Amino acid sequence: MLTLGIETSCDETAVALVEDGRLLGEKLATQVDMHALFGGVVPEIASREHLRVLPRLYKELLAETGKEPGEIDTVAVARGPGLLGSLLVGVSFAKGLSLAIGARLIGVNHLWAHLLAPGLTGDLCFPALGLLVSGGHTHIYRIQSSIEFELLGRTLDDAAGEAFDKVAKLMNFPYPGGRYIDDLGQESTPDKKLFPRPYIDHPSLDFSFSGLKTAVALHVATRPDLVFETMADPEAVANLAEDKRADIAKICASFNWSVADTLRIKVERALDSMEGVKSVIVAGGVAANSLVRKTMAGVAKKHGLELTLPDLALCTDNGSMIAYAGWQLAKAGCSHGLELEAIPRGQV
Ligand code: KG4
Ligand code: ZN
Repeated sequence: MLTLGIETSCDETAVALVEDGRLLGEKLATQVDMHALFGGVVPEIASREHLRVLPRLYKELLAETGKEPGEIDTVAVARGPGLLGSLLVGVSFAKGLSLAIGARLIGVNHLWAHLLAPGLTGDLCFPALGLLVSGGHTHIYRIQSSIEFELLGRTLDDAAGEAFDKVAKLMNFPYPGGRYIDDLGQESTPDKKLFPRPYIDHPSLDFSFSGLKTAVALHVATRPDLVFETMADPEAVANLAEDKRADIAKICASFNWSVADTLRIKVERALDSMEGVKSVIVAGGVAANSLVRKTMAGVAKKHGLELTLPDLALCTDNGSMIAYAGWQLAKAGCSHGLELEAIPRGQV
């Protein structure tokens, strides 16, 4: 079964072809440099870019994989969550294409797709605990199978990735700043008393990262010398002067530890309340974080569970994961009609 995946939920335009669960090819265009000028994603620019780029990527994908439109059985598209205007570009393209070539149409939950992405490179082991940590979401799921997800906990305000990006912005790192915090943090050791681990005393599996960001803001306010004057370019971060470097690295390491350890506490709490779980799947952009990966490896080992992490290239938004999730849904007999809607937030 040949499945086309279309991803336009935020600032990455991507298409991919998956044949019976195997990736044939992907084309991806990132808008990150464009939005970096504004320090965050500008929704209108994102939508216009998707509209401009998507048809070209689709044609290039077919040419590179040697496939004809008529060979596509299923058109899978990220229907949400995400930016409404951006989602509408992908959903409209998918509808038109499925109608033109007579293919099945399937709207995919972008978050489920993130969690299933490691299935492209290895076997997934269910039931699983799924931790989705991205720029827009921090969710804990019980995943019974590739198409059965139960949401157990979520962030009440900022997502983990958002916290990384906002803290990075406080120090004027380039956008998106998560990976700079990760890289610099590895040069230091965390001061575990410096920042709180937010919401861990609350018995639920929910998260709240906005207080942590405020704690970092208050700390950074006492050290204005550590803030880059202008939104620094990656070279500026790489060439950071020695006298500032150690102090900035300490803040990064401490903040990173607070996030990773908060995730650990809630994941362990979830595991304690779940029966029959065989693996932990961690996905989303923040799953690229070295300390989060190491921490979750420790959790899995302690609980005798398999740990599944996507390859780094599959952590951030891509079309392959949409095609793969769409294929799973198609195999289970799911499909949507032309009334398929984009769902920017809430239950997708
Ligand atoms: O999953 P994703 O591409 O976007 C959403 O679907 O929301 O994740 C992007 C997020 C950004 O917040 C980015 O800063 C963060 O993932 N990120 C990281 C790292 N690499 C990407 N955060 C921490 N450490 C990293 N190494
Ligand atoms: Zn995503």
